Amino acid sequence: MGKGSGYGKVILFGEHFVVHGVPGIVSATDAATDAEVKKTASGITIKDERKGSKGYAEEKKLQQIESIERMLKSMNMSTDTAMSIWLGGNLPGFSGLGASAASSVAIARAIAQEFNLKFSDERINEIAYEAEKAYAGNPSGIDNTAATFGGLLWFKKNMTGGPDTFEKISIQKPVEIIIASTGIVANTKAMVEGVAQRKKANPQKYDPLFKQAEAVAVTGRKALLDFDLKKVGELMNENHRLLQEIGVSCKELDHLVEVARNQGALGAKLTGGGGGGCMTALTPGKELQDKVASAIEKEGFQVLRTKIGVQKL
Ligand code: PMV
Repeated sequence: MGKGSGYGKVILFGEHFVVHGVPGIVSATDAATDAEVKKTASGITIKDERKGSKGYAEEKKLQQIESIERMLKSMNMSTDTAMSIWLGGNLPGFSGLGASAASSVAIARAIAQEFNLKFSDERINEIAYEAEKAYAGNPSGIDNTAATFGGLLWFKKNMTGGPDTFEKISIQKPVEIIIASTGIVANTKAMVEGVAQRKKANPQKYDPLFKQAEAVAVTGRKALLDFDLKKVGELMNENHRLLQEIGVSCKELDHLVEVARNQGALGAKLTGGGGGGCMTALTPGKELQDKVASAIEKEGFQVLRTKIGVQKL
């Protein structure tokens, strides 16, 4: 049997903007997806035991099948290769947590082990990027990069097809954050396409917003390196405003952002594709993390307590 895993991720700065070449900052979560793959006599079977938002696995089923086909093609394997795939792990299947990329990395690693293919992490990352296209249409590559390498990363998509740029960001010590799910399963592909269409139709509005997103990522990196958490939080708030302006937030996300800020979070924003999915808030210290998380849980939402900047996950 082959085994593999992939990290979940939380985008601190730059979702959507990264698809168009603006830099972004992402952190892997300590929660991960695990996969096991076994050769069988015929067909591909998938047993998905990830815990998640109600309906997540059903909603993503067709995209999951397409992603595995894409993955096999990218590995130069037949799309009829008979195998059973099991998915589990402690990463919840919330939209916005990079669950699809984490599962692609986990499955690619498990297939490689079961079929004795010696793939480097760079190669696993490329394969997972191909698989991500089934879920995200034209993905930036930020999710699969975080899912493969882990850590806190600065990421910039290569717009001419070459390798993307990414670099580890080291911070003074890990910082508590929370990730709260709206419970709404979002369609990342449709959200990404919507932004691309609106940007094309209305460059006067969108171009300046993209410039501001770039400034947020650049300043955000400096604030993280300086360990100026107040500034990081302010920039997260600014990033959320930009995401509202490009039309990817929704009333449930705006509500979660407001609750988190009212409870004392240093900053809060939607994370990932938006239109549902998740909100993340910067809550340094266990006490603040619990305070903000509990207030949101009391309203009936699910919350993941995690940290950014953990060096070795
Ligand atoms: O919703 P998620 O976890 O799939 O994150 C999507 C992030 C986007 O920036 C919207 C798309 C991308 O490929 O970078």
